[in-house]
Amino acid sequence: MIRFAQSVTNLRTSEIRDLMSLATRPDIISFAGGMPGNELFPLAEMDEVYNSLSDKEKQMAMQYGPTSGLPCLLESLSSFLEKKGLPVKENKLMITTGSLQAINILAKAFIDPGDSILVENPCFIGAMSAFKSYGANMISVPLTKSGLDLKFLEEKVNADDRYKFFYFTPNFHNPAGTLYSAEDKKKIIQIMNNKNIPLIEDDAYSDLYFYPEDAEDLKTVKAINPAGIDVCYTGSFSKIIGPGLRLGWMLVPPHIYQKCELLKQSFDACSPSFTQVLADKFIRTEFIYTYIERVREEYKKRAEVMIKSLKENLPEYIEWNEPRGGFYIWLKLPEGTDSTEILKIAIEKGVVFVSGKTFDPDALKNDKIRISYCNTPEEVIKKGIPLLAEAIKEKCGK
Ligand SMILES: Cc1ncc(COP(=O)(O)O)c(C=O)c1O
Repeated sequence: MIRFAQSVTNLRTSEIRDLMSLATRPDIISFAGGMPGNELFPLAEMDEVYNSLSDKEKQMAMQYGPTSGLPCLLESLSSFLEKKGLPVKENKLMITTGSLQAINILAKAFIDPGDSILVENPCFIGAMSAFKSYGANMISVPLTKSGLDLKFLEEKVNADDRYKFFYFTPNFHNPAGTLYSAEDKKKIIQIMNNKNIPLIEDDAYSDLYFYPEDAEDLKTVKAINPAGIDVCYTGSFSKIIGPGLRLGWMLVPPHIYQKCELLKQSFDACSPSFTQVLADKFIRTEFIYTYIERVREEYKKRAEVMIKSLKENLPEYIEWNEPRGGFYIWLKLPEGTDSTEILKIAIEKGVVFVSGKTFDPDALKNDKIRISYCNTPEEVIKKGIPLLAEAIKEKCGK
């Protein structure tokens, strides 16, 4: 029998992924995807960007580039990040193949098999897969309705400082939608100060805020730039240009960067030059700012339509967060409900979502569901939510 590595043997396809592959009917309404709607992509701007390239730039686009990223993109992205208040100069920036690669590189840099790390519960599935592939022992810190369970985090790190890092997504969490308050971010800094536990701060969604008055809460821990904590910040073009670019980045302290660059060299030598050239121009033309503004408004409208429809159709015992940005709403079903059962009924009715267990580091609790409004136009949301409500009521009662 073929002998796979232990780390691969532990990776399993989930029951939910198998169910989702059944949900390929063309008329099915999907609240499952965590990606921008195809109709929202900036096609006209991209045409203009490509058509403006000189032959020299097109040749650069077809060639290998430096492992850390094309210098032109590193420069334009630095100015984009500086506008967000990030301490670019004191850190090192690296372009990665999606921000998932940034997370994967950091995971490989820190985790030996059996090492304990801290993650949120629920947690982004892509990150969990990366952590598992290196044999991490994930200790999960609950997210409560108001944010992270800070007391739990404090107890954990005070009892044991051997955690290799704490991975968290403070702005418009996937799947919970949560935006951590400025106060909670300060408290995290206090708790982690001088603990020798790096933070991996995943910031894939912060540009997609709906309320400018949230600016203070949106400030990342990296932007606060606390002394005494190594903060490894990751970000992505996936939600603000398009995931097909496969471009993200990490902004990390120089002593961490060195190892990461060596690791990236062994992964893929460099991220796609072709899309780096396009992303660079997209920033320099300032299309990025007008495009973000446009999608922000569209996602806000879609979220409002979804919330209204949830209020009209869902039974009163279902709780959820009202998103202030990002892509997701996290529905809380009655304690102990198996949301996979609801998913089966929902697929029959023509609607899909993602079951809660997918995001549970302990793969136990399944009484939540993630629905996203990013990939579904308003009219379709209005059709789909009543179907979802019917499926929930069939399983859990009126
Ligand atoms: C929280 C979070 N982090 C990172 C990513 C990875 O994005 P990408 O690899 O496309 O940059 C995603 C994608 O859905 C996400 O939701």
